[in-house]
Amino acid sequence: MTEGIAVAEQPAAEASDNPLRDGLQLQRTPEPCTLVIFGATGDLTHRKLVPALYNLARAGMLPTGFSVVGFARREKEHERFRSEMHEAVNEFSRTRPVDQHVWQSFSNALHYLPAQFDDPAAYNRLRKELDRLDHERGGSGNRLFYLATPPSFYGPIVQQLGAEGLQHGGTAGGKQGWARIIVEKPFGHDLASAQELNRQIHQVFDESQVYRIDHYLGKETVQNILVLRFANGIYEPIWNRRYVDHVQITVAESVGVETRGAYYEEAGALRDMVQSHLLQLVTLTAMEPPAAYDADAVRDEKVKVLRAIRPITGNLVQEFTVRGQYGPGYEAGKSVPGYREEGRVSPTSTRETFAALKLFVDNWRWQGVPFYLRTGKHLPARASEIAIQFKRPPHTLFTSGTDELEPNFLVLRIQPDEGVTLRFGVKVPGQAMLIRTVNMDFLYGASFGVESPDAYERLLLDAMLGDTTLFTRKDEVEKSWAFITAILQAWQQQPPPPFPNYAAGTWGPAAADELMERDGRSWHRP
Ligand code: BG6
Repeated sequence: MTEGIAVAEQPAAEASDNPLRDGLQLQRTPEPCTLVIFGATGDLTHRKLVPALYNLARAGMLPTGFSVVGFARREKEHERFRSEMHEAVNEFSRTRPVDQHVWQSFSNALHYLPAQFDDPAAYNRLRKELDRLDHERGGSGNRLFYLATPPSFYGPIVQQLGAEGLQHGGTAGGKQGWARIIVEKPFGHDLASAQELNRQIHQVFDESQVYRIDHYLGKETVQNILVLRFANGIYEPIWNRRYVDHVQITVAESVGVETRGAYYEEAGALRDMVQSHLLQLVTLTAMEPPAAYDADAVRDEKVKVLRAIRPITGNLVQEFTVRGQYGPGYEAGKSVPGYREEGRVSPTSTRETFAALKLFVDNWRWQGVPFYLRTGKHLPARASEIAIQFKRPPHTLFTSGTDELEPNFLVLRIQPDEGVTLRFGVKVPGQAMLIRTVNMDFLYGASFGVESPDAYERLLLDAMLGDTTLFTRKDEVEKSWAFITAILQAWQQQPPPPFPNYAAGTWGPAAADELMERDGRSWHRP
């Protein structure tokens, strides 16, 4: 008998007080399944995965018979794991305090298996545990594996899953279940390692079973880029080289590397942010309309954009890229150390915490339109946005006040203050023909009044439903790494800039402003 998670079979007519449930439950409740989290004692599980699952349970979106198996190296009992997860939800859930009624049934779904990632016997125990849960909780043989360990374990885990036959779902009630695997970022650290990881995964799993996470794709406002472009008639006709002067994409973070110094020493901003999140934003902004909103049609168009990005190789990095590293400065009025003084960071580190670049998408639509990208730690604000600057009108009609007039901007704010702003000129009231730029604003919060689900809620649910649209495909991840690897190699051949070259709490190195100024442009201030 199933220990129930609050769920599924609520008739449409019975509207609850939960708008998420009312709108989505019937279409989007997955089949029963068991989620195995490799690395269940890690940060991602605490901060993101279990809080996201709890919120799905709270919204009535988890299937009856849903279970979690936490697979990790530390010894502990189910009960201890449950109480640690309770603390995690208490601290990191977007909805708080924890609803004890929901928690009661949700926590019954949590199980723990202490095991080494490369121990074949552990996978045999895992298979037995999965069969037991199928039997006792009605799991239907459906299995979702989540790789949330350090990336060096991805290969060995996949291999062991294959050796135990776990790439195939179990059988329950005479029905063959499915098996899927979610792979967390970073997916490799350059092109060769990403290709190698794809090869290892494909020795065991078919591409249709693989869900590579880029959590930006789970953000409501990122999905809205496609809705804005393709569900409206007014934007697409001007979304091209004839009307767009340039595109700016900023993903700014106010925090530093926090406790992740060791990881950042390996990764840096280009790998950590540009290869994944910023290039995803480029593809969604630049892609052609897909023939349908389905996984392959959407991802085909995104890959075409990545293929069309002009490579930045050799000495071109000097003209098209900027790297920065923060020195001591301020965050929210408090003084903070420089990157080289952070924990587990070399005092002579040449790793970048800021990257800016200018790229071109060499195709019919975007020929000659620069895309400027920037991202960094310890910038003055947490702000992610896509700003599209339009060309000025071809002929100046009004004689006064037009010199200072800003060009038209369409700004898609990804976070915070999620929304869309259009900036345009209007006449200032009075006798003179004076013109001033104003904003027309759409704010998600004000229009809908419900908090958006966290990206991981959306992505976990999609993986349970078998929808790969918001996950990156093999060719997509390899194309983006090919572009990034060329820059990394060129950087390696040049002496690094004199780091640190920006103070924490400022908008990055002066060279990032110069990248724009050389073209007679400037960064849009979020
Ligand atoms: C992660 C990066 O992928 O994204 C982090 O590894 C970064 O370094 C984070 O802080 C930013 O995500 P968000 O959702 O806070 O913008």
